[in-house]
Amino acid sequence: MKTFHLGSVLNGGGSYPGGNKNAQAADWVAAADAFYDASMDTSDGGVAIPVIWGTDAVHGHSNVMGATLFPHNVGLGATRNPDLVRRIAEATAREVAATGLDWTFAPTVAVARDDRWGRAYESYSEDPALVAALAGPIVSGLQGDGASGDALGPANVVATAKHFIGDGGTELGRDQGNTVIDEAGLRAVHGPGYETALAAGAQTVMASYNSWNNQRMHGNRYLLTDVLKDRMGFDGFVIGDWNGHTLVPGCANASCPAAINAGVDMIMVPTDWKAFYGNTLAQVRSGEISQERLDDAVRRILRVKVRAGLFEKGRPSSRPLAGKSEWIGHPDHRALARKAVRESLVLLKNNGGVLPLDPTKTILVAGDGADDIAKQSGGWTLTWQGTDTENAYFPGATSIYAGIDAAVGKAGGQVILSPSGDFDTSLPDAAIVVFGEDPYAEMPGDVWSIDYQADNRADLALIQRLKAKGIPVVAVFLTGRPRAVNPEINAADAFVAAWLPGSEGGGVADVLFRAADGSTPYDFTGKLAFSWPARADQVPVNTDSRGGSLGVDAQFPYGFGLTYSDRTDSAPLPEAGGSDGRDDRAGLPLFRGRAMPPLELYAGNGGDWDVTVFSGGIEPEGGQPLKVVEVSHRRPDDALQITWPGDTEGHVFLQGLLPVDASAFAAGATSDTKDTGVLSLTLRIDEQPTAEIFARMDCGTGCSATVPLGKVLEGVPPGEWTTVNVDLGCFAKAGARLDRLETPIRLYTGGRATLSLADIRLEPTAGKAADLSCVK
Ligand code: BGC
Ligand code: BGC
Repeated sequence: MKTFHLGSVLNGGGSYPGGNKNAQAADWVAAADAFYDASMDTSDGGVAIPVIWGTDAVHGHSNVMGATLFPHNVGLGATRNPDLVRRIAEATAREVAATGLDWTFAPTVAVARDDRWGRAYESYSEDPALVAALAGPIVSGLQGDGASGDALGPANVVATAKHFIGDGGTELGRDQGNTVIDEAGLRAVHGPGYETALAAGAQTVMASYNSWNNQRMHGNRYLLTDVLKDRMGFDGFVIGDWNGHTLVPGCANASCPAAINAGVDMIMVPTDWKAFYGNTLAQVRSGEISQERLDDAVRRILRVKVRAGLFEKGRPSSRPLAGKSEWIGHPDHRALARKAVRESLVLLKNNGGVLPLDPTKTILVAGDGADDIAKQSGGWTLTWQGTDTENAYFPGATSIYAGIDAAVGKAGGQVILSPSGDFDTSLPDAAIVVFGEDPYAEMPGDVWSIDYQADNRADLALIQRLKAKGIPVVAVFLTGRPRAVNPEINAADAFVAAWLPGSEGGGVADVLFRAADGSTPYDFTGKLAFSWPARADQVPVNTDSRGGSLGVDAQFPYGFGLTYSDRTDSAPLPEAGGSDGRDDRAGLPLFRGRAMPPLELYAGNGGDWDVTVFSGGIEPEGGQPLKVVEVSHRRPDDALQITWPGDTEGHVFLQGLLPVDASAFAAGATSDTKDTGVLSLTLRIDEQPTAEIFARMDCGTGCSATVPLGKVLEGVPPGEWTTVNVDLGCFAKAGARLDRLETPIRLYTGGRATLSLADIRLEPTAGKAADLSCVK
């Protein structure tokens, strides 16, 4: 900071002062002071300009242990309550201010149009009007109310409307994908949230990873400059997204004049910032970036810093709320979050009036979401993905089970907690099954099918088991988006969409139970902010018909939500029909820079099978011979580079809990016809193999098929990304049973080699010529 006079720092998802997950408010403030002091240091003759520190406080101050975690936006949309949302933003700002930070990368005003998108839960609604109705209040809550002259006071932080523009409209719901729509459509669907966010005074806008009609947003001068700044009058600054500039043609991690020229004022450079700084200076000196553009960017950043009071607020620790750890998870904030949980719940079914439950009875609480605060909180919670935590990391929080236990205990009833659903007591009077999606964020959350547990409906089986015993079952579904769950809905007596409620699980029991005196203090008020599909192939499904959607026959239309006065039972919902919704154009992806769930990537020594798992595919751990690092193909860090050192045979392979059935891609693979699918690999040879590289498929004990890749790799130009297609017939001929691939792909060699892998998939025949063919 001192040497480079950086304008800003960020901590990404899951990054904390000193790398300490348990950092306290005082630790954050100390780090903020250190950055501030360095930024104000003029000993080298530089100018003192206070740094601005930004963080992803996207559902509360969600990187800070003990902070209040509010429902993710998908739940807030269901509340339809702009005033509540404004107060949540105020509470979040207070908690951020207590740690000495100045800026949050929120709100996300994305309009998620395809539920397969891994960020759908960061969107308030598929409906632009609802997003617009909530975006303004969120910004007012975070920054303070400009109209009343209170903006950006000591309890406020700078807001970011993100990700500009079209992030929620990508094809097939692919994260960082391409949004294909005309300009009027872009404005009508994806624009309204920005109108109200800017009207409320949002000081920063984050450029989006996605493309609009094949042009990356970080390089789109028309939309960033002509539209956002000139036409919409935005006079704050545009911040880039995490390495988002690297997606612009001609750019790299450490250099991107095109993004600056297009109108990005501050670039988010997580790793290569020193080189980026030097390159940018050189580009201004050479005229590649004009002095005028640089001045404009600097002026905008300074304007925001002046408006945010950073020149007057002084050292972070001297600010009124700084270090006041009592604001982190303050009881008032928790009460507000609990209210938000109550208002976000959407009741989809209540047959026989099973709800509200009687708290004086015996209640079984089952399901793996019952007592799991990480699961009920979703991604962007203490870690980027929201994984690798346990209840102990959430001091002061309440799991859904704990909330039920408190409500029932108080009324004199009894609660049995049993995630598996087994119990050895007498029959409970009712069961609550809490289940749903495990946490994810961004790309790893993308799914090819919105079918829930298509491969193994374990939660359905649990509900059915309890029902078979004659127990009335209330299903509480934790999810970031609607999923195709008609079988689960049919199996249960009542079904509640609880979204990702966050730290205050007590809000669920508030609504599920009547009071001990029989009254119902809280009814369901939540209404769907996303159309709920009937079938897995009903994507996208939206309330309006833009983009050729199928909104008309949604299972539960936009705005649906029962209350206790709706006493009608619902008829069984259709379960059959429709495919699993996978898109044939895409084949079956096995690996896209990381293993596609439920597959995981393993690496290790073929000799002793002492393998190391990288769930997701990041850091190699001790003991295994291969070096694996992230590299970029089309998007930042969307590929892995694997180095075989050559002293021992090294394997990388994909494996899941269940075998992959590739038979659909291999019609004819066992016969001698050309009518077969392919294993398609997008790779780059970074160091020529010194020995044969083998591809192998394993299909159970004694069943495996090995194909040498030498011939096909010979044709790959070194250092260039290339897609090679290997006939599935090669594996069938070599003995693979394609319908049960326990290891759908394993690559190994005993030699030295370095390969980068971006994509591995199974493709149907259509249009794919095999580079390696084993059929006549
Ligand atoms: C996300 C942004 C986030 C940023 C910083 C990016 O990957 O797209 O929403 O603000 O990282 O963590
Ligand atoms: C960071 C996130 C960031 C993401 C981008 C992660 O390592 O923790 O903040 O959004 O990378 O891909």
